[in-house]
Amino acid sequence: MDRRSADLPSQMPPPSWKWRLTEQMLPYLDKVFDWVCRRGQSSAHHPEVAAILRRTRPRTDISDHLLTLFTEGLAARPRLIVELGVRGGESTYVLERVARLSGGVPLVSVDLEDCTGACRYPNWFFVKSDDVALAQTFPEWCRERQLPAAVDLLFIDTSHLYDHTLQEIKHWFPLLSPSAKVVFHDTNLRRIYWRKDGSFGPAWTNRGVTAAIEACLGVSLPERTDYVDLIGEWMIRHNALSNGLTVLTRIPTLNADAEAGAN
Ligand SMILES: C[S@@+](CC[C@H](N)C(=O)[O-])C[C@H]1O[C@@H](n2cnc3c(N)ncnc32)[C@H](O)[C@@H]1O
Repeated sequence: MDRRSADLPSQMPPPSWKWRLTEQMLPYLDKVFDWVCRRGQSSAHHPEVAAILRRTRPRTDISDHLLTLFTEGLAARPRLIVELGVRGGESTYVLERVARLSGGVPLVSVDLEDCTGACRYPNWFFVKSDDVALAQTFPEWCRERQLPAAVDLLFIDTSHLYDHTLQEIKHWFPLLSPSAKVVFHDTNLRRIYWRKDGSFGPAWTNRGVTAAIEACLGVSLPERTDYVDLIGEWMIRHNALSNGLTVLTRIPTLNADAEAGAN
């Protein structure tokens, strides 16, 4: 463990009374925000985009990122999508639409809890398991179901703990296709998170996900601000709002460019 990760939490703290009170107050505050704030785009020509816009209306910690997940996911032109962490199915809702619009490709979701009710997409595979354990048998698991061997779009939204995220990277990244995209939520976790309309919600202070990405890429990352960068073979785009969303797109020619520069 390096110096920066030594003081990261090893589990999520139990919610304090202030946290619980804030959570109870937020629906009322959100009504005030709906009243005084303009919420940006509210309609779209395409019914799936319109559906996602409707899904973003109830404010959550991921509502600001659903359209980005959709557009980034679609642009990846995936043949196999894997989602780590389902819970209420916000990201599943979006990834299902990405899968459908990509030609009905398989979507594999994994969670420790039973989330079988989260999605009705016919090509959805839900696995109730530890995600790192699934990665270890994934090639065989895919072969048995005649699914593609490589993951084109990987969405990671689970424990947000440093050690676990490192394990996810270690075991899932070797299963990625040459031009895969990886989307991490909660890369800017702090006590209070802000959305683009100025509303906010309670969270917890933990830079475990970002510290794990840093350990993988060998760089430090400024997660408090939006940024774009090229690191090794990865194009990286980060949005700091709403607990942070970081998108890594693998571009194999970037590596060749870096090697040519080194020679
Ligand atoms: C933040 S929630 C996911 C939210 C979901 N992506 C959404 O947009 O609604 C985190 C989920 O990760 C799951 N989880 C935590 N650790 C896990 C692990 N080791 N393997 C699989 N799932 C895990 C939890 O059970 C929980 O349902």
